[in-house]
Amino acid sequence: MKAPRHGISASRLISKDALCRMERAPDPCVMVLFGASGDLAARKLLPSLAQLAAEKILPKGFRLLGVSRTPKTTESYRREIAAALKEAGVKESGLLKQCDYLAGDGGDPGFYRALNQKLAGLGGRRLFYLSTAPSLFPVIAQRLHEAKLSRPPAGGWTRLVIEKPFGRDLSSAEKLNSVLQGSGFREDQVYRIDHYLGKETVQNILMLRFANVLFEPAWNSHYVDHVQITNAETLGVEHRAAYYDQSGVVRDMFQNHLMQLLSLIAMEPPSGFGADGVRDRKLDVFRAIKPLGTKDSVVAQYASYRREPGVSRDSVTPTYAALRLELDDWRWHGVPFYLRSGKCLAERVTEIAVVFRHVPVSIFKPLLADHLSPNVIRLRIQPDEGVSVRFEAKHPGPKLCMSSVNLDFSYERTFGAKPPEAYARLLLDAMNGDQTLFARSDAVEQCWRVFDPVVRQWERATKPLPSYSAGSWGPDEAEALLARDGRRWDLPYA
Ligand code: BG6
Repeated sequence: MKAPRHGISASRLISKDALCRMERAPDPCVMVLFGASGDLAARKLLPSLAQLAAEKILPKGFRLLGVSRTPKTTESYRREIAAALKEAGVKESGLLKQCDYLAGDGGDPGFYRALNQKLAGLGGRRLFYLSTAPSLFPVIAQRLHEAKLSRPPAGGWTRLVIEKPFGRDLSSAEKLNSVLQGSGFREDQVYRIDHYLGKETVQNILMLRFANVLFEPAWNSHYVDHVQITNAETLGVEHRAAYYDQSGVVRDMFQNHLMQLLSLIAMEPPSGFGADGVRDRKLDVFRAIKPLGTKDSVVAQYASYRREPGVSRDSVTPTYAALRLELDDWRWHGVPFYLRSGKCLAERVTEIAVVFRHVPVSIFKPLLADHLSPNVIRLRIQPDEGVSVRFEAKHPGPKLCMSSVNLDFSYERTFGAKPPEAYARLLLDAMNGDQTLFARSDAVEQCWRVFDPVVRQWERATKPLPSYSAGSWGPDEAEALLARDGRRWDLPYA
């Protein structure tokens, strides 16, 4: 493979293959997929299962039992799956014959008799996956309990995977947690999914920080000036107005995905790479977030949002938000974290920029210290997944002249492959009983505690929100949020 100019070549990587903690092929199990006819199943879950089948990680005895209200036969369900896989460009790799279908209403107690009968012949390891409307999450959990399906069968296990959104504010999240508990699901049986945690580049934040000695000594308020997390999407609300207009960007992206990114950047080293250690340290971060001041958030709406089909004509739902957070802890004292996310923006990109302080004194007079660009570590979550480190370098020739250059690592160039689908990793972990990459009840509630006031603020708004043009980088107010601190957004690059 050709080495990139400022890159890392694969031949110079020292492979740790022999020491790799191989993703264990799970024991045969049955996955009961509620919401089997839905969009998420077609676009993400089924292609991910097919990917695992192609990699021979999915055990031969695995069964998928699709559940939804639409009456159809197993044959027509399989044809539907085949079409979804074709659309996603994934081979079926033997998955089809492992799939079965059961029509029924997740709210109807009668359905669970049929489910119990079906499961009786399918072994004692059960993964219930709730990919339905959120209002059905507590109902299905309760019905499973009533049908004695929340308790693991002798010698087996029962796990419940719950899609986002987990609640729409603190009190509904607390209520859902207590319904799960009351339905006999112990915390170690509950897998609250956040697909950002399944992204390779998100997991790599922990490798970058804790498998290297170079970065950690500077990863604190002595050296870091501030951190920026940007999630920009080019798409608008599309066909999801019914959900989105009730949720808005803060519920849709901040309370879950962006908080997960923040916690991985800011957490202390855990004692090991296991579920409790990692999730305890993440919880510390959420607890340390200071309450947001009224001037610390900006919300806005893309100009054509109210004309989207299904969106209320006087909607005040934000499609864009930018926030300034601070953590009340030793490591990050006084370091602002700026987070932003929006739909209909100029580019599709998710990136974290750790921006370092200026050198204390410049020896390169007449250049002053703040004439020298600060170092920036950019973690590119998507697309072009990778990491870059910006530093100052001298121009060739007799003049004393400097420019900022990048050391650049790209997943694709280095490993010769695009990272796999996030859901494949998470499904595998759920089958293997590893909760490291799933959100714990206390963490979910803590995140809502941060965002409840923000959500309430815009829900009470009567005036139209500031607007931004589709295809821009968001409203001017978001620029002002950083300008107030003498800073600017790192993207688009200057
Ligand atoms: C989902 C949100 O959780 O994440 C969507 O509901 C958003 O609104 C999506 O578009 C973004 O995911 P990704 O993986 O495309 O960045």
